[in-house]
Amino acid sequence: MEVVIVPDAAAGGELIAEAMAQLLRRRPDALLGVATGSTPVPIYQALKAKVRSGAVDASRARIAQLDEYVGLPADHPESYRSVLHRQVLEPLGIGMNAFMGPDGTATDVQAACEAYDRALTEAGGVDLQLLGIGTDGHIGFNEPCSSLASRTRIKTLTEQTRIDNARFFGGDVRQVPHHVITQGIGTILEARHLVLLATGENKADAVAATVEGPVAAVCPASALQLHPHATVVVDEAAASKLK
Ligand code: F6R
Repeated sequence: MEVVIVPDAAAGGELIAEAMAQLLRRRPDALLGVATGSTPVPIYQALKAKVRSGAVDASRARIAQLDEYVGLPADHPESYRSVLHRQVLEPLGIGMNAFMGPDGTATDVQAACEAYDRALTEAGGVDLQLLGIGTDGHIGFNEPCSSLASRTRIKTLTEQTRIDNARFFGGDVRQVPHHVITQGIGTILEARHLVLLATGENKADAVAATVEGPVAAVCPASALQLHPHATVVVDEAAASKLK
């Protein structure tokens, strides 16, 4: 695992956007795995600036979603599909035909999870997977004690994660869905390159457990230690508890 400490979130965003741009120059139709939440926003902004300036053409990239709420209509403004359309697809000039994600509205959720896991493999696998990290060490929505071998499946959000995400629902935790479909840890580990960005002091404990703790299901992100090509980019605040 490679750990890169950057001064702030903007520098982290720029560094990762440049890695994505280099991948796209080499492989214009790369399959990019994308996360949502606040952390990746500087990455998407930096990548958008590169596309606008002509430094990279992302129009042939393919996009794969990491996780999705269960039960929110696909066109709900806070469904992750909608968020990714606003933050990634539209700014980068990528059409919905190049987008894949789990169906959070499916009646048979289990079948939808299995279908998405299979679709990722059939698409050739994810070339670069972006990850954020929860304050409890979750990646995707693999909350603590998720199996490190898990595949895409339905998970119940912890109360803490729902409280953390209430800010996207007008501060009302009752509006935050209880369930999500998330790529499993085993699924995530199949991506060719994992890039985790963590910013802010509230991520410092989770970062220390991820990088310096044992590989253990209590800190799902520690599974990155098992991956041959994992990059952890942290700002100084998030790095503050590293030895
Ligand atoms: C979201 C996701 C989550 C977030 C994590 C951190 O797609 O996979 O693991 O990355 O909850 O969220 P933020 O970045 O909002 O602190």
